[in-house]
Amino acid sequence: MADLSVNICGIDFKNPIIPASGVFGYGREYEEFYSLSELGGIATKGTTRTKRTGNSAPRIAETPAGMLNSVGLQNPGIDYFIQHELPNLMTKNTVILANIAGSTPEECAEVARKLDATDVHMIELNISCPNVKQGGAAFGTSCQMAEQVTAAVRKAAKKPLIVKLSPNVTSITEIAKSVEAAGADAVSLINTLLGMRIDIHTRRPVLRNNVGGLSGAGIFPVAVRMVWQTANAVNIPVIGMGGVTSGEDAIELMMAGASAVQVGMAVFTDPYAPVKIIRQMNDFLDENKISSVREIIGTVQPW
Ligand code: SIN
Repeated sequence: MADLSVNICGIDFKNPIIPASGVFGYGREYEEFYSLSELGGIATKGTTRTKRTGNSAPRIAETPAGMLNSVGLQNPGIDYFIQHELPNLMTKNTVILANIAGSTPEECAEVARKLDATDVHMIELNISCPNVKQGGAAFGTSCQMAEQVTAAVRKAAKKPLIVKLSPNVTSITEIAKSVEAAGADAVSLINTLLGMRIDIHTRRPVLRNNVGGLSGAGIFPVAVRMVWQTANAVNIPVIGMGGVTSGEDAIELMMAGASAVQVGMAVFTDPYAPVKIIRQMNDFLDENKISSVREIIGTVQPW
């Protein structure tokens, strides 16, 4: 067995695999399939200051190599999360990353402040949700706004702060450098790519929100490129995600520079995907006589 453990911002993960925010709820449904303690960590569904019912349906659409979503940050609000979901999650012997979002820096800061008073291990700030009309996307596509919201959350919370970045930008490295300068301890990327489908019979967009975030295997090469560029631009850890479906994909993202890997859409087609990916990573390391997964981080050798 290879050593799969990694350390990010002083937090020990038993392995680098983390189900991504939004695909795993609070873990309850997946616990019926396997022990959550097998996972390196869990990123919880994005939580806002107050309850959100999300966007109107249809808000999910299949695409040839993935899916579009416009969920719109449906969640029960931070107080409910802290009272009813977090205590259960904290018993699961895995690292809990509380994903947060908001329409203003003040709202994000307030949510982070409440989490700072809990035992949660890390905060992941979503500055990149493409599916809400305010906040989210705008924060993540402007260096100034990304810096502003990161600074507000940094001031409000001492917990390790991961900022989740949008790929819907001209320069991912400039945004990453801005959030690093504002106090982020790590960055995670990529969130979904903005997309759209049209029903040619009704001439209506397939999603009620018209546009939505594209995830799944089709976006994997974009994730590899952006993780690689970002890891070479900042001095903080990078958590990679975007279309990971196998242990080989996770190894590839780590060679690009990721210190850990989030698994998103893959859990919808196979709830066992995260644990299979952990085993496949171990097989690759054993077959290649690599004793620790940490040895592969950032080892791509560009031409
Ligand atoms: C959503 O709830 O709309 C998805 C969150 C995201 O893509 O950031």
